[in-house]
Amino acid sequence: RRAPVVLGIETSCDETGVGIVRGRTLLANAVASSMDEHVIFGGVVPEVAARAHVEAIVPTLRAALDEAGLTLDELDAIAVTSGPGLAGALMVGVGAAKGLAAATGLPLYGVNHLVGHVAADLIGREGDGEEAVALLVSGGHTSLIHVRDLVDDVEMLGETIDDAAGEAFDKVARILGLPYPGGPEIDRAAADGDRDAIRFPRGLTAPKDQARHRYDFSFSGLKTAVARHVEALEDAGVEVPVADVAASFREAVADVLTRKAVDACTERGVGILVLGGGVAANARVRELAAERAAAAGIELRVPPLRLCTDNGAMIAQLGVLLVEHGREPSPFDFGADSTLPM
Ligand code: KG4
Ligand code: ZN
Repeated sequence: RRAPVVLGIETSCDETGVGIVRGRTLLANAVASSMDEHVIFGGVVPEVAARAHVEAIVPTLRAALDEAGLTLDELDAIAVTSGPGLAGALMVGVGAAKGLAAATGLPLYGVNHLVGHVAADLIGREGDGEEAVALLVSGGHTSLIHVRDLVDDVEMLGETIDDAAGEAFDKVARILGLPYPGGPEIDRAAADGDRDAIRFPRGLTAPKDQARHRYDFSFSGLKTAVARHVEALEDAGVEVPVADVAASFREAVADVLTRKAVDACTERGVGILVLGGGVAANARVRELAAERAAAAGIELRVPPLRLCTDNGAMIAQLGVLLVEHGREPSPFDFGADSTLPM
């Protein structure tokens, strides 16, 4: 039997993504980002993101079909992110996907964005994916997930209780006078700094947090600690050692993320750790994850960056799995759900 060809649409945040996957083979991954329009606001503005999706969705769809060398009648199904994410942004993708499905008669699957991030690791491989723990860290989400089966056994272990990890990078960059988006800027500045210069707090790692927040994250206290540290230096008329502050902050984030992720693998007897989201690009997060996973005998998987950040291919890959497992398409009245649970 021929492998299904699925087109995936992703519009949960600032990336308009349309990807096409045949079986486990990537045929196209077209992405348009509205990040340039958010820079002056210092963060993703939901209304601006939604408008940008309306403008980008059809050109991105065309680009994906061109890249794959396919026409719509060669597709077997359409998959679209139905949540979680920005409500208005999600609605553009869901609306476009429904229109496309209605016009072509193709089956349509509304899927979970976070599960899509995990499915990204399957692209270019064989099989249905092994049991894994996934650490998904971006500007919009920070989640630790236990995946026993991508199609129907995915458990949320923990999430951030305040800021997302990427958001913390963006806020601390602003404190240090670095441009938005701050993640890559801090990563660059930190390369010349001493990560042990300042001991910043590790959120939700105290013994009292073990019971209720074992796998949860918190970054707002860390952000405040950095702000206080910088203010105290400025008040004293001392020049802020940007590289050291950046390196010490980055260390605190990377320490907590990788410690909790590897602990989750060990405690649940899982041998694979998958990283996803824009923060997976962070040099220290990758380094510490590799170090700690190796020490614990865990295999670390980091998909290529284009598949780590938000994209349509990961949604297409999840759609392929649903088709292969004979799942019923979503009812035509499914909606966009900004807080969609797994
Ligand atoms: O996945 P993504 O492209 O979009 C969503 O947020 O959904 O992630 C963007 C986030 C931003 O907050 C950005 O600052 C952060 O990922 N980021 C990084 C790095 N590159 C991007 N954070 C830390 N280190 C990096 N190298
Ligand atoms: Zn994402």
